[in-house]
Amino acid sequence: MQSGTPFPHTLTDQFGRQVDYIRLSITDRCDFRCTYCMSENMEFLPRDKVLSLEECLRIVKAFVKLGVSKVRITGGEPLVRKNALWLFEEIGKLSGLKELVTTTNGSQLVQQAQTLKAAGVKRINISLDSLNPTKFKEITRVGDLDKVLRGISAAQKAKFDNIKLNTVLMRGINDDETLSLVEFAIAQNIDISFIEEMPLGEVDHHRESSFVSNIETLAKIQTKFELISSEINTGGPARYWQVKNTNTKIGFISPHSHNFCEACNRVRISCKGELYLCLGQEDKIDLMPLLRAHPDDDSALITAILSSMQIKPKGHDFDLKRAAPAVVRFMSHTGG
Ligand code: 5AD
Ligand code: SF4
Repeated sequence: MQSGTPFPHTLTDQFGRQVDYIRLSITDRCDFRCTYCMSENMEFLPRDKVLSLEECLRIVKAFVKLGVSKVRITGGEPLVRKNALWLFEEIGKLSGLKELVTTTNGSQLVQQAQTLKAAGVKRINISLDSLNPTKFKEITRVGDLDKVLRGISAAQKAKFDNIKLNTVLMRGINDDETLSLVEFAIAQNIDISFIEEMPLGEVDHHRESSFVSNIETLAKIQTKFELISSEINTGGPARYWQVKNTNTKIGFISPHSHNFCEACNRVRISCKGELYLCLGQEDKIDLMPLLRAHPDDDSALITAILSSMQIKPKGHDFDLKRAAPAVVRFMSHTGG
């Protein structure tokens, strides 16, 4: 926080949790169509319903003014948005911000890794669900594994502080690759997180039958690797383990467990400018009308963000057994 700004660390919710981390989705579009994320024929938003990059920057600036120190840019696939780099560069210049990070599917990294690093992106998460080209194509519907692997190499060359793979395991689809994905991460000297599939948005497969719990994944990995429990706590739904004698940490992101909600330090902003107070709940405030009604004045925006803290829910409410998805919006709108 800069001295002289009129706002103290004010983003504290009614349960005493301090929000210092925002995740901003800058597009709902993606060059992949992962089966757990999108339906085959996704309809994307018309351009005027999506925040402009200038509006994205206004939102980020307002949050940073209010004490937010970490920003993650997500999508959809953030790097397919035209001129996304401009936004990264502008956010990278903000004093008061400690960490600018992003989550990507890796498809654009051959061209963009170096420039993202130069813009100030510190850490990068890259989705990787399979090391088998045919399987990779099946899961992403259109993705090219080789391109993503070359993207990972480009990220290595760009020397980010940290690279982490994100893997969603699905029973009978890629759960047989758990150990090979861990071996790959170790060989690359990078981290890997296993994310339990979350019931976000209506997709074409039945989530309950494909669900693999992280308890099962951890046990499988421990048959082959010695894991040392790590103290790292990100305030998010991840638990980390160090693989003994390696530089690799393994994270387990378990949205179905409730215990992380107590330490939740984050909010999400969708590409439509909706401020979501919890990944698993509908509580939100629409920021876009405020931005567009007051193009030169951020006071309404700041007031809305401050008052949103009163409606941040205590926790989420995911249930795989429900017929309908717990939350109808897609991850590609709100960001992971
Ligand atoms: N459940 C779990 N993970 C998901 N992702 C996208 N949709 C879902 C879902 N329904 C993952 C992507 C990416 C991360 C940001 O979120 O694979 O790695
Ligand atoms: Fe695109 Fe990521 Fe969704 Fe896959 S999971 S379709 S890469 S946004």
